Amino acid sequence: MALKPTGLPPQAALDALGEPELLELVRTQPLPEHVAIIMDGNGRWATRRGFPRVAGHREGVKTARAIFRAADTLGLRYLTLYAFSTENWTRPEDEVSTLMSLLERAIHEELPELMSRNARLRVLGRPNGVPAGIRRGLDHVVRETRNNTGLNILMAFNYGGRDELIDAFRALARRVQAGELKPEEISEEHIGRALYTADIPDPDLLIRTSGEMRVSNFLLWQIAYTELWITPTLWPDFGPAHFYRAVAEFQGRTRRFGGV
Ligand code: IPE
Ligand code: IPE
Ligand code: MG
Repeated sequence: MALKPTGLPPQAALDALGEPELLELVRTQPLPEHVAIIMDGNGRWATRRGFPRVAGHREGVKTARAIFRAADTLGLRYLTLYAFSTENWTRPEDEVSTLMSLLERAIHEELPELMSRNARLRVLGRPNGVPAGIRRGLDHVVRETRNNTGLNILMAFNYGGRDELIDAFRALARRVQAGELKPEEISEEHIGRALYTADIPDPDLLIRTSGEMRVSNFLLWQIAYTELWITPTLWPDFGPAHFYRAVAEFQGRTRRFGGV
């Protein structure tokens, strides 16, 4: 197989690789530290099969579990999953309530595996407005896993990128008002530390499934120099092989951060 200077095979050669070969390949190159995913396309997956949209969400939970395992197998440090946006509350009430119960159950059922994989769950988003049951469930799993030192799963739930910035600006404004900080001292570091992701490195790679070419209010500040990888594959059809493929393509890219 002809190798590019990076040591990675060209795109067409990647097509021929299955999941084990892709995994083996990505392990030979430096890994991204943080991968974020916009898990999109559950509704379309179900509609195309003549199922109600919630059937897609049920499948989507299975995919999320498979990708958590794949990320852990790979030895990733941070995996962010966009599970529910502040805008998703505008969906029909039955879809929202089914999604909430699916998520509540999934979080609860996932705890033993999070523990056995030494993985830590954290939540990005506004706690206010989250139904009490799901909030208790999330708090419990976050607390139980807080000393785990392996993969960090960041679940973006009731998350909005603009809300996150508003919350950060309010926190900084309060510090200015209290005389702790001068407006002209405010730096990227101050803003970064005021975000939900305060101590978490920016995503290196952002994956979006189901083909939409937009960021949908996700991690607006943090993705300034993130590499984007968008696939037409719908989230319920997405699997570890797609995930490793995305990482392999990321490894073949040159990041310039505005330089040459
Ligand atoms: C993503 O799938 C899951 C959530 C937003 C909760 P969608 O439900 O957005 O699926 P599509 O985009 O309608 O196909
Ligand atoms: C983004 O998907 C939100 C999540 C994946 C949770 P959406 O389906 O809500 O985004 P739009 O509506 O296509 O922009
Ligand atoms: Mg969608």
